[in-house]
Amino acid sequence: MEKRKQVLSAIQPTGDLHFGNYFGAVQNWVRLQDQYDCIYGVVDYHAMTMPYKPRKLRENTWEILFNLIAMGVQPGSLFIQSLVPEHTELNWIFNCFCSYGQLTRMTQFKDKSSQSESKSGGFISAGLLSYPILQAADILIYRADYVPVGKDQAQHLELSRNIAQRFNHQVGKEYFVLPEVLYSETPKINSTADPTRKMSKSAGDKHYISVFESEQRIRKQIRSAVTDTGDTPAGEMSPGVNNLFQLLKAAGQTEAYDHLRGQYEGGTLKYSELKETVAEALVGISQVFVEKKKELLTRKKEVKNEIKAASADIRKRAQQTVREVKELTGLANVKF
Ligand code: AMP
Ligand code: TRP
Repeated sequence: MEKRKQVLSAIQPTGDLHFGNYFGAVQNWVRLQDQYDCIYGVVDYHAMTMPYKPRKLRENTWEILFNLIAMGVQPGSLFIQSLVPEHTELNWIFNCFCSYGQLTRMTQFKDKSSQSESKSGGFISAGLLSYPILQAADILIYRADYVPVGKDQAQHLELSRNIAQRFNHQVGKEYFVLPEVLYSETPKINSTADPTRKMSKSAGDKHYISVFESEQRIRKQIRSAVTDTGDTPAGEMSPGVNNLFQLLKAAGQTEAYDHLRGQYEGGTLKYSELKETVAEALVGISQVFVEKKKELLTRKKEVKNEIKAASADIRKRAQQTVREVKELTGLANVKF
């Protein structure tokens, strides 16, 4: 039988999972599990690139792992990045295969460096600049064919491909697979409070809706979503209304989507009805996950052990790659 294609993706443990993460990435992660060999990481080394608190980092890491499992990710496919330290070893090697100039052009670096500066008195870590190199190591160490992520990661994926190409060229062998990005049908969900920017944790509380939020708060956030601010050119859908339709589509409500879309075209759509339908759909999704999480928390220890065992297993693959990379790059390599 032919080997199944390898899928790899990862998420930072920086707090809650929001509907942008779910519809842009995690929903896809779950779907891909039937078809491919999937590995998903919670990347705690990445979360150190911004100002953070050590205790909170560890708490967030476990929290997000439980959330991911509640959403349908199989525990056996999950790993914690810092339990696979080979990522950082490959990261160093890739530092030497990555162009400094290209790093400075990353839009995520530009956004986050100004956030970091204002949060911590002007401090911007070198880790924030080299962050996409570690991301390339996360991906290439498992020779991933496909990387399911949201639109905001396109530039980082391109950099990973460039590193793989430069490496392969240098060692004279097509060793690393050039990974391809996989988008969901809704790769960019916007903030309901400001639909011209993406839904994001770092923009502040009103700019994201957590999947594990209380029903009341989800309804409230959708009810107060910006719809039409009056500055959209005639004949175009406003970003706010468009975003609500995207949410409806992502939530799998195709019938309601078609029906309300028809009303919109006919000029009879009531925004309050659109919002009500979106809120209902999101609450429905959320409640299933909240219930599942409650059940998981009753056997916390067992679940944690499963993730540690999965990380140890996944680590073996990473070790194999690092051994081969050392061989190819002329580094000392004690066979173990
Ligand atoms: P992050 O929370 O930045 O670690 O992102 C985790 C995953 O969610 C990545 O694959 C992102 O591309 C995706 N993602 C984050 N925000 C959004 C959004 N607003 N819309 C779609 N996907 C997103
Ligand atoms: N940079 C990604 C984000 O901000 C997280 C990430 C780290 C990642 N390593 C990865 C995503 C490897 C995909 C593959 O969302």
